[in-house]
Amino acid sequence: MTLSDTLIELRDVDFSRGDRPIFRDLNLTIRSGEVTAIMGPSGTGKTTLLQLITRQLSPDSGQVFVAGDDIARYGISELYRMRQRMGMLFQNGALLTDMSVFENVAFPLREHTKLGERLIRNVVLLKLQAVGLRGAAGLMPSELSGGMARRVALARAIVMDPALLIYDEPFVGLDPISMGVIAKLIRQLNDALGITSIVVSHDVKEIGEVADYSYVIADGKVAASGRPAQLRNEPSELVRQFMLGLADGPVAFHYDAPDIEEQFIGSKPD
Ligand SMILES: Nc1ncnc2c1ncn2[C@@H]1O[C@H](COP(=O)(O)OP(=O)(O)O)[C@@H](O)[C@H]1O
Ligand SMILES: [Mg+2]
Repeated sequence: MTLSDTLIELRDVDFSRGDRPIFRDLNLTIRSGEVTAIMGPSGTGKTTLLQLITRQLSPDSGQVFVAGDDIARYGISELYRMRQRMGMLFQNGALLTDMSVFENVAFPLREHTKLGERLIRNVVLLKLQAVGLRGAAGLMPSELSGGMARRVALARAIVMDPALLIYDEPFVGLDPISMGVIAKLIRQLNDALGITSIVVSHDVKEIGEVADYSYVIADGKVAASGRPAQLRNEPSELVRQFMLGLADGPVAFHYDAPDIEEQFIGSKPD
């Protein structure tokens, strides 16, 4: 791997919410053309990390580089251009319920381009074909299963031909078969479209199998990283706890809270 293979780099990133530190000295690299998984327990900052990459949030210190540029230096138009090259599939990336599947996928094209109707039709059908749902173009979102709806959202995410596709918890709420379908699609689209993919998930099994490289984030840092086989053999207690889904281990079950006695017992009724 050479340096030019790097699409995104976070360098010594610190980020806090109020006085609650989320990241401290976070260092992480996303390589071009690969599927990178960002895994970690809930509340660990995975969505926050994506927001730093898209500059919806900015680090307190440290830098985020995209294609070699420190994005803190971007003006509005450069930021806009960068985001146009990023497709996103959000956890709650709901479809517009009063529009057909076709119109949902066509929506970004109508918003951001001046393409004619014929071309829009071709592009939309091509993207629906890529997710196996060309035949569903005329359906309404209420007629789709959860897995189909997620695939339509995926077709919409790629309709502008992004260079980077970002998925935030793409498996949440899906049955195991649909999860497998989505996981395979993430891989296929990445390779067929020649793009780069970032998949945030706490679902180790699904994403671990299709990712080229994975990061496990915990306690504001990269707790482990590597190719799937390397991570499976990771000796760290914390990573093992997470990979094996164990409730007991170094990761606290409780979110920081005031002392329990003070909060319950200490609050004397008068
Ligand atoms: N808008 C916000 N304001 C304040 N705290 C937030 C906000 N969004 C997230 N947080 C906190 O930041 C931490 C990381 O959140 P998040 O990135 O959503 O975690 P994850 O995606 O890994 O579940 C959590 O403790 C969460 O409570
Ligand atoms: Mg999240």
